Amino acid sequence: MDIADCIRTRRSIRKYKKKDIPWDNVVEIMQSAKYAPFAGNVMNLKLVVVKNEGKRKAIAEACSQQYWMQDAPIHIVVVSEPEKIERYYGTRGVRLYSIQGIAAAIENMLLTAHSLGLGACWVGAFDEEEIRRLCNFPEHIDVHAVVTIGYADEAPEMPPKYRIEHYMFFEKWWGRIEPTKTGIGMWSPYVKRGVTQTGEMIKKAVGKVKGKFKKKEGKKYNAEHK
Ligand SMILES: Cc1cc2nc3c(=O)[nH]c(=O)nc-3n(C[C@H](O)[C@H](O)[C@H](O)COP(=O)(O)O)c2cc1C
Repeated sequence: MDIADCIRTRRSIRKYKKKDIPWDNVVEIMQSAKYAPFAGNVMNLKLVVVKNEGKRKAIAEACSQQYWMQDAPIHIVVVSEPEKIERYYGTRGVRLYSIQGIAAAIENMLLTAHSLGLGACWVGAFDEEEIRRLCNFPEHIDVHAVVTIGYADEAPEMPPKYRIEHYMFFEKWWGRIEPTKTGIGMWSPYVKRGVTQTGEMIKKAVGKVKGKFKKKEGKKYNAEHK
């Protein structure tokens, strides 16, 4: 799947088929986490895979009773070791870099799951103490999220997304310029692809018509000059 399509069509999945997913896929999803950018390449991420049904139920309960989670055959509990990044970057490392690196890793996992034809959801609403207890996490571990993975049993519509001009400025806060000929709000790789493909189709059609016309003219000329 093309990366732009993968990013655009990924959805949060909250309904899963009661079907296990191949272990290879789980590994591939977890592998993708490490390719995320981490400040100073300090990867302080750890992942706990939960397959056990009873534990998944308990996790769903601890995640503000989001019971839909328990049908996902795999839960990945995403945690960090803050002291590792603190050693390099102090408080900024813990408060900012760690959270950002781990968020990037989670997005990698969601996109990889989607590219493998699987559904996933980033779950951030949880009782930290309860998750800590369920997974035996020591005090120095920070819990960031639970990612559910499985075969999707729904195909959600894309939720409303802002047009680009709502969040893109030029040069300064609220900086606006004259819209370009193509219109910034309209532009996207898909529009570009559509325009290119349409252009190619038109060129082909014109070539065909020209060819036919030339043939017809040739026949006419030959008939006249017999
Ligand atoms: C930090 C964070 C926490 C989230 N927590 C939850 C959650 O607890 N439960 C849930 O169903 N979805 C959760 N989501 C998923 C969002 O609801 C979802 O991404 C959003 O509605 C947009 O839908 P989409 O992912 O299909 O584009 C969370 C997403 C993020 C980034």
